Amino acid sequence: MIILGIESSCDECAAAVVEKGKKILSNIIYSQVKYHQPFYGVVPEIASRKHLETIEPVVAAAISESGVAVDDLDGLAVTYRPGLIGSLLVGLSYAKGLAMSLKKPFIGIDHILAHLYACHLEYDLSYPHLGLLVSGGHTLIALVRSFEKFEVLGTTIDDACGEAFDKVAKYYDLGFPGGAAIDRLAIKGDARAFNFPKPSLHKGDHLFDVSYSGLKTAVVNQLDQFWNRDYEKSKENIAASFQRIAIDMLVDRVLKASSATGLKMVVAGGGVAANSYLRKRLSEEADLEVIFPSMKLCTDNAAMIAGLGYHFLSRGRESDLNLNAQARVPGFRRSYP
Ligand code: KG4
Ligand code: ZN
Repeated sequence: MIILGIESSCDECAAAVVEKGKKILSNIIYSQVKYHQPFYGVVPEIASRKHLETIEPVVAAAISESGVAVDDLDGLAVTYRPGLIGSLLVGLSYAKGLAMSLKKPFIGIDHILAHLYACHLEYDLSYPHLGLLVSGGHTLIALVRSFEKFEVLGTTIDDACGEAFDKVAKYYDLGFPGGAAIDRLAIKGDARAFNFPKPSLHKGDHLFDVSYSGLKTAVVNQLDQFWNRDYEKSKENIAASFQRIAIDMLVDRVLKASSATGLKMVVAGGGVAANSYLRKRLSEEADLEVIFPSMKLCTDNAAMIAGLGYHFLSRGRESDLNLNAQARVPGFRRSYP
């Protein structure tokens, strides 16, 4: 079974062709980042307009690179939630039109489930396991029961992890998104040079939750203080100290979630899963078996959409053409969906 996947929930316009939920025949990602960089964030209006311009060539490139004839596609999978509503609508409407004209089934895919599926494209992993989704929009520690079901164990009570990296990077004037730049800067710094405050959230209802707004503010204040005097001397140390605390907080919650559930396997996903310190820290934990997607599958892509779509479509689960895009997942806090 060969599925065409389409992803347009934020600022990446992506299409991919995947066979049997695993074999990636093509994986095209068109990043709009240069259009959003001047604004230090994704501008929804620009994102949806750019998706309109690029969706057709991106899908055409994915089909052509896969070597699969359009008639041999068995179905289409497309992200329908959560994300920027205008961006989602471009991909969803395009997929519906294509499915209708080709007379192929289509399925709407939840972007969060797709990130949690990304590692399953590259490894044979059994359920249940823990999921760690860390990106610019999401921070989630989950008990993943199947390709379509998980329970939220922990999340952020304010900023997403990647968002905190991006806001700190903005203060450094490192461009957008700045997570990878902070990662590179931190390699040269002393991670113990600064002891920024950690939120005291680790009890009661918030046992597995994280918080980044206080840490972000403390880092920005520190940078302000050093701006004229010791900036050149301290900038790497500040980045390394910020990164250590931001990531150690996640590692702490993952360890707690593992002992509470008895699950040792942690499957990571999302842009921050590319972070070198996170990869190193989690790999060092002897009690955990941690699986990371390859770099191209960490950030937004359509291979994860097509791969997950296979599991629905192969079970005869199709979406109706009335399916609408949703910016948010209704009622999403502890249970999912
Ligand atoms: O998954 P993704 O492409 O998009 C969202 O769904 O948000 O993740 C993008 C996020 C950005 O916040 C970016 O700064 C962060 O992932 N990121 C990193 C690294 N590479 C990307 N954060 C920390 N370290 C990295 N190496
Ligand atoms: Zn994403």
